[in-house]
Parts: sequence; structure tokens; C-alpha cells
Amino acid sequence: MPSAGPPRRGCPAGSTGQVMTVSGLDRPAAERITERVPGSPQPAHATTALVIFCACGTGERPPQAPERRHGMSEARGRTGTGQCPGSRVAVEAAGAVGEYLARGGPLSVADGSGVIGELEELLCGLLGVENALTFSSGTAALHCGYLALDLEPGSEVIAPVLGFHAAVTPALHCGLSPVLVDVDPASGTMSPAALRAAITSRTRCVTVVHYLGHPAEMNEITAICREHGLALAEDCSHAYLSSYRGKPVGTFGDFAAWSMHETKALPAGEGGFLATPHQHVRDRALLAGHYRGRAHTQVTDPGLREFAETGLGLKYRLHPLGAVIALTQAGTLCARVRRRQELLARLSAALDTVPGVAPPAVAGHVSMGGWFSYRPAAPRLAGVSLARFLESLRAAGVPAHEPSVGPLDALPLLAGPAPLRAAAATWRPRLCGPFDGARAYQRGRLSVTVLDGDSPARIDGYAAAFAAAAAEAA
Ligand SMILES: Cc1ncc(COP(=O)(O)O)c(C=O)c1O
Repeated sequence: MPSAGPPRRGCPAGSTGQVMTVSGLDRPAAERITERVPGSPQPAHATTALVIFCACGTGERPPQAPERRHGMSEARGRTGTGQCPGSRVAVEAAGAVGEYLARGGPLSVADGSGVIGELEELLCGLLGVENALTFSSGTAALHCGYLALDLEPGSEVIAPVLGFHAAVTPALHCGLSPVLVDVDPASGTMSPAALRAAITSRTRCVTVVHYLGHPAEMNEITAICREHGLALAEDCSHAYLSSYRGKPVGTFGDFAAWSMHETKALPAGEGGFLATPHQHVRDRALLAGHYRGRAHTQVTDPGLREFAETGLGLKYRLHPLGAVIALTQAGTLCARVRRRQELLARLSAALDTVPGVAPPAVAGHVSMGGWFSYRPAAPRLAGVSLARFLESLRAAGVPAHEPSVGPLDALPLLAGPAPLRAAAATWRPRLCGPFDGARAYQRGRLSVTVLDGDSPARIDGYAAAFAAAAAEAA
């Protein structure tokens, strides 16, 4: 069982390290760890290794309570611990990370073997996708996905104005131009009508975001893509295990990408992956982010093999310790998602009866709604502002706050000129406003931090607090 110890030397400037004890090892294993981590204290017992964690940067000790976060601001609202992760995941993964280090597992895997290959195989089975390829982040996976589409410079990539910037901003670094379009006011996902209206002779790709876990309207969107000969990318970062009309998200497009950031349902700390049904997309994505190593053995296109030594000159491999962490979480993914759905369905059913409050919409043909971050709306409360309503909820113990990420059209990166000269020649984002759907979706929207481990009683308490705060406002 790991336990926190005193600060140690060798951590980044300004931070305080954590020494965690991993017991149950033999002496050589314990010594191997301490040899591998310069400055590590000597283990006190033959069966104990002192494993170092020093990534916090804030000087705060990771809390020992296994709290799960769903976003930075939500975590602050709930735990009040500031920025230090110290999550359920760290506690659960500490043993596996210690064991991996103790057995001398490689700290860089270039050939896709070991824990990297194991994770990629498992992801395919778990999510029903093909050719899973891991990367250092979801952003990197998206960057390599866009490169792999091999589009001519100046091509436009249409994406929804709600989501997260990295769904489309990596396209800027492929000489492509992001185009933002409006969303459906109920689900917050890309409006097929807005997509159709934004298509020009330069459009080559559409990127959907299964926003907060709610699948985008895939029947209409895939039909539009087929009609216009457009590539389709899916950002599934929020939507692990979501399905649309019975078909898993991530299986509709030319590639799909997932983030494995620590807030996601399958966290690696930092990490991401893409999946694709096409061998040629896999070849190019591999070449884009994994030079040498596996590029020599796994790129199948003879015309590309000569580039294997350098790839495209980028390296975006997942750290093997990230893979170890993700592997510890994969086994519980289905149960955690199911549990979360049950809790949120319970909360939504209760909020449905509260005047002036609307639970997040879930279309009849999707397996789940916005479960990644639970966002009901209170746009019709007569007498009070949203801020006052939030105050009442918080006073009653509900971890409620304003949503942390707003529409992307307000971001200088997408609304203004290129921030650096090196990018300026190809920087041409386009906004297809007005974004009435996004504004309607956002109106009165608030976020409640619901943790997978919350009890039904706690959820019922939240619902009662909503009812009381709404009655007070009426
Ligand atoms: C929808 C979406 N896409 C992409 C990303 C980028 O992933 P990462 O942070 O792993 O680079 C995120 C991260 O929050 C996200 O929420």
C-alpha cells in the first residue's frame, strides 16, 4: 500500500516531491528502483521501495482521499486543494507503476511493444475500433490524424463552436484552416444544417466532437460528408463508450481521437490515441508521431518506408508509465461509466421535476448524454441571476459552478491573426456565426461535479438543493 512521505531532493525547481512507499518487493527490486531514480532515499526494509512522485509543481501534497476530477475548476470547487492532481487514479495506479519500475520495464518504448502494444490492443477490444495508436496527448493524436489525411494546404476543416480548441487547432499546424460552425441548442453537438451551410470549394474535412459524451448527429453528418466527398474525424475525448443508434462513437470516421488526460474516463495522466479503419491513415499517423522504432517495422506502404528513420520529424510517443496507468483504469472503465450513467440518470429524473431547471438533454437514439461534465440549465428562473442561484446551491453543499470552457469563437487563437510570425502565412481560421445555437445552449448553463464514487443519497441531496434554490428564486 503506498503512503506519502517527506519532500525529497531532485524535483523541479519550486516544487516539493513526494516519496511513496511500495511494499511487497524483494530487495533487488527495491534497489533497482533506487538505482534508477538518482537521489532516491535508501529503502528501509528489504521488501520496500521508495518511489518518487514529484510532478505536482505546486508544493502541495497529493491528498490521500481518492477524489476524481472532471475539470480543473470543478476540482477546485469540490476539493479546494488547488492544482495538485492527487486523484483516485494516482492512488490506484501507484502499485502498478512501482511494479513496472521494479521489474525494470523500459522507460521509452519505440517499437510499440510491451505496455504500449498491450494498451493499444486492449483499446481496440474495449471501444470496438481498429488500429489504435497511442500518442503523448489527445492533441498530438489529432495533429497526427490531420497530417495523416494528407490534405492540400489551405483546405478547410469544419468543426463545432462548442467543444475544446484542440479538436481542431492542430489542423492549423498542418497548413489547414479551421472553420467553426454552430451547434444544436439541445445537445451542443454540431448542427448538420450549419455544417451544410459552411461548406465551400475548399472544404475537405469535418470534425465532430461528441460533446460532453453526447454523440453528434452522425446519420446526417456522415451523409453530408459522403455527398461532398469530405473526410470525417471524430473527437471522442469526452465520449468513452458512447454509442449512436447502437454504433460506438469512433467507428464512423476516417479517424477518431481520444484524450487520456487525467480528467478523462480512461486517464494516462497525459496521453491520447487515435483509431482508424484505414491502413493508409494508420501508416501516415504512425510516420507523423512515431519515427524510427515501430515506423521501420509497421509502416506498410512501400512508398513511405524510406521515411521511417525520421518520420515527419516529430515525436509524440506515449510514455510507458502513462500506458501502465491507463492499463490500471481500463479494467474498470465499463463499470465506472455505467455507475456514472446511473447517478446522472437519477439526478436528471429529479431535476426534471424542478420548475425553471432543465437537465442536460439526451436524444432517444444515443446511449448517453453529457455525462463527462454534468451541465443542467436554469435559464428560466424568474427572480435571480445565475450567479445568485449558484450561490444558493453552493451554500447547500452542491459543488456547482459556471462551466469552465465556453464557445471557441471568443478565443483569440481562432478569432484573431496568427500569434507568431512563423505560422502567419497559413493561419486562416473562419467563424461561421452568429452562433445562436451555442448561445442558446450556454444560456443559464451550470456545471455540477458528480464523481463516479458519489452515493445515490448524495445525488438526492443535490436534487433537493436545486428544488429549494429554485423555489427561493421563484
Ligand atoms: C474534446 C477534447 N478534445 C481534445 C482534447 C485535447 O486532449 P489532450 O489534453 O490530451 O491533449 C481535449 C482535452 O481536454 C478535449 O476535451
